[in-house]
Amino acid sequence: MCGIIGYIGQKEANSILIDGLKRMEYRGYDSAGVAVLDNGTIFSLKRIGKVAELARAQTKFPHRGPIGIGHTRWATHGNVSERNAHPHLSDDGRFAVVHNGIIENYLQIKAFLIERNYRFASDTDTEILANLIDYHYQKAPHLHFAEIVRKTLLHVEGTYGIAIISKIFADELVVARKGSPLLIGLGEGENIVASDAAAVARYTKRVVYLNDGEVASVRSDNFSITTLHENAVDVVCHELDWEIHDTDLADYPHYMLKEIFEQPSVIENAMRGRFTADGCSAKFGGISLIPRELRMVDRLLFCACGTAYHACLVGKYLIEKYARIPVDVEYASEFRYRNAPPQRNTLVFVVSQSGETIDTLAALHEAKRRGYMVLGITNVVGSTIARATDAGIYQHAGLEMGVASTKAFTSQITILSMLALLFARIRDMDAIVGLQYVQALKSLPIIASDVLKLSEQIRIIAEKYYGYERFLFLGRQAMYPIALEGALKLKEIAYVHAEAFPTAEMKHGPIALISEETICIFIATQNELLDKTMNNIQEVKARGGKVIAIVNNNCIAWEIFCDEVLIIPEVHPGINPITSVIPLQFLAYYIGILRGCDVDRPRNLAKSVTVE
Ligand code: AGP
Ligand code: GLU
Repeated sequence: MCGIIGYIGQKEANSILIDGLKRMEYRGYDSAGVAVLDNGTIFSLKRIGKVAELARAQTKFPHRGPIGIGHTRWATHGNVSERNAHPHLSDDGRFAVVHNGIIENYLQIKAFLIERNYRFASDTDTEILANLIDYHYQKAPHLHFAEIVRKTLLHVEGTYGIAIISKIFADELVVARKGSPLLIGLGEGENIVASDAAAVARYTKRVVYLNDGEVASVRSDNFSITTLHENAVDVVCHELDWEIHDTDLADYPHYMLKEIFEQPSVIENAMRGRFTADGCSAKFGGISLIPRELRMVDRLLFCACGTAYHACLVGKYLIEKYARIPVDVEYASEFRYRNAPPQRNTLVFVVSQSGETIDTLAALHEAKRRGYMVLGITNVVGSTIARATDAGIYQHAGLEMGVASTKAFTSQITILSMLALLFARIRDMDAIVGLQYVQALKSLPIIASDVLKLSEQIRIIAEKYYGYERFLFLGRQAMYPIALEGALKLKEIAYVHAEAFPTAEMKHGPIALISEETICIFIATQNELLDKTMNNIQEVKARGGKVIAIVNNNCIAWEIFCDEVLIIPEVHPGINPITSVIPLQFLAYYIGILRGCDVDRPRNLAKSVTVE
């Protein structure tokens, strides 16, 4: 979930490790540490809290060696403390390990090692790796470093991305992965391993992604990869497709705000080169199916988590409305364990910004195991999910640094709206209607820019309401998932209890929550059913609740019955969810800021969730 970095080359490892850790901070973590091999000894330094704390402590860490590893931890086993922070050294200091993931049989291994007089200094599952590697080294000191690690990992159950250094093997770094991402950045006379390309992009654009079950031995001028069982691996080198300035804040105070404002260009990038020459439909180079095969699809199944799941729900409304294909949307974490009845002619999509979410990856494998064709919608080129799908669509949204997804969400719904158009045109949407749909999509970046102008108005609204503790988000049809996303943003960023319901569901229970202490946010941009929404607004007002409404045009009724009205342009229903979510992103951002929250790194959250 967090970050791994490792350096081997000619330079001082330490500063490169700290820089790499800073570039992975956006992923969310609770403590950080480095270990450097210097003159035959491994020295480590760890701090709880931010990487800045670790950087500040560097004055007390004068170790200049050219090989080292670093880590930002998101605690799973053992509390947040320096003792539990990584790297973990083996009992006698021969090996140092950083690890992302969870070792499931660590208690058995720990007992085994304690019987053999190994001592432990932390409560983590990770520390057993350092000692078990040492145990295998002691048993067979003639083996190569990578061989010792392979032998060790054969006894380990769970998930891991690991990087290891050793004072015995002073010119080598070993990495391995099973379920947690790892890549090798290839430099000139130096190599940098990391769990995230953001950490290596400053040094090189050439990367090799490790696959599950692979172990790599990395030296300053070469590397080799085999499987755990020593089979050879075909190494594929990828070029990173984004720039280092993606990780800069420019003039924005936070990544979240920067990314909200990037949305017009992100939407443009999601659409670039993806309309047919006649201007009446969409096309995706990544989907290898021809129209005849797409016509055979009787049902679509989408699997995703969190915000990406909400994007899929929007996709369901649009695809069913325009293409008339039944769509099911499942939480990936549920689908992976559910014995869902098989359905004929089903095409599965997995949607994931990071392309690393473990539940989504597991759902993908489960769907493939059942023989479905699985396509992906991902933002990170070369990510595990992108590589494991049969084919897919890249979002091209650029690196998303804010832990709370904003631009990746609008980019996903843009693509899903285009998929609705593509399927509709293959079935029963005529060319003229298709043309209008395409024109609406093409106008979207400019309209999104107009919606961004509401920023200041929303900040003023946030100032009035940021102290409230209960928010309900209400929307109908495709605005219901937008309500869900608005509530999720507020929870994540401002730590405020927020819930979302289809507007008409309010009277079936949630209405009991309405009081003067409740803020109800109505997303009333779904032009059908507006009269009914107005009735629901009156029901809230009758019980003393406060109403903020997002609407398309001002009318006297909104003014009379709502405490706050936000007017956004009226647009084609195929793009309506995209414009409607932007005010909710601003609202969460400003309320989070006013409540003093760390909006880019909300507590307890990680950017990509690579543990179950
Ligand atoms: C987004 O704000 C969340 N932090 C989270 O719900 C996220 O969308 C979810 O973990 C899925 O991530 P993915 O898109 O990278 O798979
Ligand atoms: N399970 C390990 C721990 O709790 C690693 C957690 C992580 O992925 O950061 O220390």
